[in-house]
Amino acid sequence: MLIIGHRGAMGYEPENTLRSFRKAIELGVDMIELDVYLLNDRSLVVIHDDTVDRTTNGKGYVLDQTFEEIRQLDAGRGEKIPTLQEVLDLADRKISVNIELKGEHTAGPVARVIQEYVTNNGWQFEKFSVSSFNHHELQAFKKLLPQVKIGALIVGIPVTYAKFAEELGAYSVNVSLEFINQAFVNDAHERGLKIFVFTVNERDDSERMKRLGVDGIFSNYPDKVR
Ligand code: G3P
Ligand code: CA
Repeated sequence: MLIIGHRGAMGYEPENTLRSFRKAIELGVDMIELDVYLLNDRSLVVIHDDTVDRTTNGKGYVLDQTFEEIRQLDAGRGEKIPTLQEVLDLADRKISVNIELKGEHTAGPVARVIQEYVTNNGWQFEKFSVSSFNHHELQAFKKLLPQVKIGALIVGIPVTYAKFAEELGAYSVNVSLEFINQAFVNDAHERGLKIFVFTVNERDDSERMKRLGVDGIFSNYPDKVR
């Protein structure tokens, strides 16, 4: 079962900061997960919420900020909100990266960054995966870079189980912990899909995920759930 560092290792360090990703890598995760938005100046910034209020000392919507304004904020312990490229440079091909498309219109810019890192920086497509709750954004990404694995995020259990993810051509279906059950795992596996579950922070839950046959878990405390 893969252990994926959720927003880095957000149980220990300010989420979605370089410090958090460094900590996750130190803890030996198999993959790091991050969230991206596209600013008006086309920069891709790594932050979870649509406002900067909860995670920084600033106020307002992420998309109302200029890149310069975003960079002046303290995202915790003196850390800046990183760009996608800064996180990839930190990962430096040594670890897999799951990029969650949070903001709209992120599919194209993220596809371009991945292509650039493969072409110019020696990365391989296999090291990347792209996920989203916005399945339209995922579909757009899949058309641009079909070589990269996509993960369809969902909170709930559809009547047709993982059919939607199969139709999207997804590699995985990424389900919330409160809804995952054996029927869903079985259905996804029968369709040839992997199952990743978020967010698993307790040992009891990680043991239960192993028993269900889940393929990977996102965790804020990657060392506790191994
Ligand atoms: O990708 C798993 C998880 O990160 C999705 O939920 O809200 O933490 O981005 P959220
Ligand atoms: Ca996320």
